[in-house]
Amino acid sequence: MSAKEFSQISRNIFYPIYPVIADQILKKGVRQGCCLDVGSGPGYLGLAIARQTQMQVCLFDINEEALEIAKQNIRAAALEERVYVEQGNVEALPYPDNAFNLVTSRGSLFFWTDQVKGINEIFRVLKPGGMAYLGNGFGNRELKKAIDEKMLSIDDKWLIKAAKRLNTKENYQAVMNQTKVNEFKIKADESGLWISFHKK
Ligand SMILES: C[S@@+](CC[C@H](N)C(=O)[O-])C[C@H]1O[C@@H](n2cnc3c(N)ncnc32)[C@H](O)[C@@H]1O
Repeated sequence: MSAKEFSQISRNIFYPIYPVIADQILKKGVRQGCCLDVGSGPGYLGLAIARQTQMQVCLFDINEEALEIAKQNIRAAALEERVYVEQGNVEALPYPDNAFNLVTSRGSLFFWTDQVKGINEIFRVLKPGGMAYLGNGFGNRELKKAIDEKMLSIDDKWLIKAAKRLNTKENYQAVMNQTKVNEFKIKADESGLWISFHKK
């Protein structure tokens, strides 16, 4: 699936989930300073965080085409002053230690070649007091149900297959056990699966 095709799915099908997920993340308490959204794709989660706060948000993705779409979405949202894009690989983040208050990532970590490396990098760039919230989810049970029904009508099942194969609690637990992060939570419910951790 190309970045353009994924962008169409997220705009037409996933769109209502992003403000709900942003709200769930922000309620955990970190809502000031800088946010890095890893594997941002077209940027809807990062943009929802920017709309709900005064945070500076970096939409970070390995795929240039996705970031071109993200740039258009930033302009359409008139958020150029606080939201920007950067291209790179989560496994070698181009930032100094302790740079971000909040790191988010939705629907991306099961595509990373080395998830342990990616999570160690996220931990490194988190500021003391900062929080990371990573995984895959659809906001709440009703939104997930509606999306599942719409996704069944899409011919390309690639996204669903990748998510189902790698997005399991056991996989997340096994990955986290190999990282430098000693304390973390894995939350699994009917709307999704998320890892969260703080840096002390
Ligand atoms: C399914 S999309 C999710 C996009 C967005 N987070 C969302 O929820 O709408 C996954 C994104 O992760 C990005 N990605 C995959 N591997 C990556 C890596 N190693 N570093 C950074 N981004 C990566 C892809 O380019 C893609 O845009």
